[in-house]
Amino acid sequence: MRIIKLNAIDSTNTYLKKMGVAGVADDGLTVVAKFQTNGRGQMGTTWNSQEAKNLTFSVFKDVSFVDVAQHFYISMAVSLAVYEGLNSLSVKKIKVKWPNDILSDNKKIAGILIENVIKHNVITASVIGIGLNVNQTDFSDLPSASSLLLLSGKVYDLDEVLSSILKQIEIYFDYLKNRQFKLLKSTYESHLFRKNKPSTFKNAEGSVFSGYITGISDVGQLMVKVEDNFIKSFDFKEVSLMY
Ligand code: BTN
Repeated sequence: MRIIKLNAIDSTNTYLKKMGVAGVADDGLTVVAKFQTNGRGQMGTTWNSQEAKNLTFSVFKDVSFVDVAQHFYISMAVSLAVYEGLNSLSVKKIKVKWPNDILSDNKKIAGILIENVIKHNVITASVIGIGLNVNQTDFSDLPSASSLLLLSGKVYDLDEVLSSILKQIEIYFDYLKNRQFKLLKSTYESHLFRKNKPSTFKNAEGSVFSGYITGISDVGQLMVKVEDNFIKSFDFKEVSLMY
């Protein structure tokens, strides 16, 4: 698989998306940068990562075989690939936080930003951006985040961690190709952060409510049991899990 290694770039997602639109990216092409000057997170946020300490990379994947209605399974496959990649390196207490975060010991260690490459009104490929905190130790401006080094006391080889995750991305995309949706969903749910635990949420209007996460719907919504055992489903823009 081809890997482009850059010292600095605005954003590996932006860079790879441009390559995809120009038709010069093949399936599996990976771009990894030591530093991003404009790292982007979900919902228009910024992704900051200390230079050369962590992994910031993007992978170009053909998704033309995935129906639009099943696009959330791409995100499940990627979360599970990061989960398994870290699990195979013996990282402890890993959880997937819906929709796109990876936690270890209740702290965020990785975020995923998946963007579409659209040609002639059809989504042909996804650019899968992953920011993984590996050897950074200072998170004074972000107490909810941590790194593999902080959690394990071990310095990790960035190339080794990268290849472990890339290997799992290929494995999980094979599940997608083989339409193993039930397996993907049940595995994702088995690693789901705060599943069946009393939790507090905020909706898009800012109101706070409590409930229990029961799982993920067939279209990728978070299912929450609220009062009177009523189950409500939420899109990612409609709800955020507070604690
Ligand atoms: C999030 O948790 O908000 C998602 C963060 C995604 C960050 C990665 S770093 C590599 C790739 N390039 C970007 O600009 N963003 C993603």
